[in-house]
Amino acid sequence: MFGNTTIGIDLGTANILVYSKSEGLILNEPSVVAMDVNTKSVLAIGQEAKEMIGKTPTNIIAVRPLKDGVIADYDVTADLLREIMRRVTGVVGNSVKRPNVVVCAPTGATSVERRAIIDAVKSMGAKEVSLIEEPVAAAIGADLPVDEPIANVIVDIGGGTSEIAIISYGGIVTSTSVRTGGDHMDDEIIQHIRKNYNLLVGEATAERIKMELGYAPIPHTEITMDVRGRDLLTGLPMTLTITSTEIQKALEETLSRILEAIRVTLEQCPAELSGDIVDRGIVLTGGGSQLHGFQEWLVNQIDVPVHMAPSPLESVAIGTGMSLEYIDKVSKKIN
Ligand SMILES: Nc1ncnc2c1ncn2[C@@H]1O[C@H](COP(=O)(O)OP(=O)(O)OP(=O)(O)O)[C@@H](O)[C@H]1O
Ligand SMILES: [Mg+2]
Repeated sequence: MFGNTTIGIDLGTANILVYSKSEGLILNEPSVVAMDVNTKSVLAIGQEAKEMIGKTPTNIIAVRPLKDGVIADYDVTADLLREIMRRVTGVVGNSVKRPNVVVCAPTGATSVERRAIIDAVKSMGAKEVSLIEEPVAAAIGADLPVDEPIANVIVDIGGGTSEIAIISYGGIVTSTSVRTGGDHMDDEIIQHIRKNYNLLVGEATAERIKMELGYAPIPHTEITMDVRGRDLLTGLPMTLTITSTEIQKALEETLSRILEAIRVTLEQCPAELSGDIVDRGIVLTGGGSQLHGFQEWLVNQIDVPVHMAPSPLESVAIGTGMSLEYIDKVSKKIN
C-alpha cells in the first residue's frame, strides 16, 4: 500500500488542485505563495496568500510562481508543492507519502518547461511522476469518451493558457495552445481603467470586475459596479462607476485570440472526424469559460453545439487522477 497511491495534480497558473480516485478532490487552492522577503520563508499559501496580493507590507510578498501555464519561479513552485503535499498527507494520511503523481502540462510547453514541472513535483516527495497533456486530462475529467475513435473537442480556458484539442482514440489528433486566458482578461481591465480614468486598480479588483461585469460579445442588459483604486494624478483613493459595456469592449481582443485558436484547430480536423464535431460539438472547461455569455457567443461564432463540462474548474484535476486507467485501456486496445 505504502507509496503506491496515485494522485493527480492540476498545477494551474491560477489554481492548484489535487485529486485521487479513492478520495475525490482532496485540495483546491489558488496558486499563490506569500513569503518573507528577507528569510524567503513561506508564510502562507493558497487562498490565504491570494488575499494578501497587493496588500502586504514591504517585508512580505505574495507571488504567483506559475505564469502562462508553466513554472516561472522554480523555487517558489517547489515550496508551494511541498506545502501542498503536507496538507494532502494531513487530509488523507500517511498512505500518500511518496505517491505516484500524474501532473498535467500545457501542450505548448517546451521540453525544458516539462522537465521543470517533473522536477518540482519530484521535490515534493513523489515517487514516480508522469506528465499528461492538459487537454487530454480535461477531456477525461469532463467524461468524454476519449478512448473511442471519435472526435472529442475540448476547449480549456485557464488563467494563463487556452488550449484547444481534438482527441480521438486516446490521443491528440490536433491541438492549439495560446498563452492567454483569464489573467490577460484581468490585465486588459486594469489597462482600460488606467487609460480611460487614470485610476489604478489591483489584480483582485480586476478579477472581481471580470466575474461580475465581464461579458463575451453578446447583447446584454448593461450593469454597473463601483470600483476603488488609486487616482494616478492626485495619488489619492478614488471610487468610480464602470459599466459592463466598457468591460465587454476591453475583453474583446483576448476573446478574439481565443476564437482564432479554436477556428484554426477545427480547420485542422481530419475530414473523417469533422462530422463528429457537427453532431457532438465541443466541450468547454477551465475557469475562463465561465465568463458571462461565453458559451452563447461561441455557438454564434462557430456554428457547432457548445457544451459546458460538468465541473469546468475541476475537469483537469479529475482527469489527471483518472488518467492511468485510461492509459491502460488505450494501450490494451493497441496491443
Ligand atoms: N465566473 C467566472 N467568470 C470569468 N472568469 C472566471 C470565472 N471563474 C473563474 N474565472 C477565471 O478563470 C481563471 C482560472 O481558471 P482555471 O482554474 O481553469 O485556470 P488554471 O488551470 O489555474 O490555469 P492554466 O490552465 O492556464 O494553467 C482565472 O483567470 C479566473 O479569474
Ligand atoms: Mg488549467
